[in-house]
Amino acid sequence: MSAQLLDGNALSAIIRNDLAARAAALVARGVTPCLAVILAGEDPASSVYVRNKVNACEKAGMRSLKDIYPADVDPAVVFSRIAELNADPEVHGILVQLPLPKQFDSQAVLEAISPEKDVDGFHAENIGALMQGTPRFIPCTPYGVMEMLKSRKVSLKGAEAVIVGRSNIVGKPMAMLLLAAGCTVTICHSQTRDLAFHTRRADILVAAVGRPKMIVGAMIKPGATVIDVGINRLADGKLCGDVDFESAKEVAGIITPVPGGVGPMTITMLLANTIEAAERRSGGQE
Ligand code: GUN
Repeated sequence: MSAQLLDGNALSAIIRNDLAARAAALVARGVTPCLAVILAGEDPASSVYVRNKVNACEKAGMRSLKDIYPADVDPAVVFSRIAELNADPEVHGILVQLPLPKQFDSQAVLEAISPEKDVDGFHAENIGALMQGTPRFIPCTPYGVMEMLKSRKVSLKGAEAVIVGRSNIVGKPMAMLLLAAGCTVTICHSQTRDLAFHTRRADILVAAVGRPKMIVGAMIKPGATVIDVGINRLADGKLCGDVDFESAKEVAGIITPVPGGVGPMTITMLLANTIEAAERRSGGQE
């Protein structure tokens, strides 16, 4: 293996230490940072993510609320719960786990969350602020990726960044953050004609498509920083990323593993956004 491993668990531990101190300072002032999580349906992956998010809150000395609804829940029930959480001064962050069951208009649900409590950064107001270069809440996965790049002092000014995947959750906000940091950014997607042509030019390659091992070593520029956002479950039950780790690690300069790469960082930045929301509400960090 020639690539250096960028370990998301190790970096998360460092950041969560600092977050726990910020949470403790808030608690000392009578404000316990609280995240409310809503899950509708029985998607097994979503259930695991929600459990991990709630557990991470508890470990950081924060409070969490969890509302779980059956897959056939009436959207009106969820809207009414969001309104209640918006009005609750003891709740600082609200997260509705995606994807939602088919009877939901997901964007309408995200817009129903108060922008001040939108710790996912998915509300149009927060996306608009990010686009304008004045972010309020940065979506957790791209935020975590930026922290990973920062931790290794990866040079971003003038670098070629290629993102594979154009989702609202990862691809698009990732592009905005890398652009703001001075990268020349290309977003590739399912209709991109010659994917390898683009990926081979990337100094920073972010894979976020949800297709197991689709980025192989031959598609990577020697020495590139490769960030694997994919979490795919194989038939044998094992997890793998969108990058074929075995071939990619021989070519890349820095690479994130799956599991233990971007995944834990997403949760860490969710905690960071929730603490940030609580600090803003209570008049700032002391
Ligand atoms: N589903 C997959 N990733 C995410 C995320 O970051 N936030 C929410 N709310 N749902 C998701």
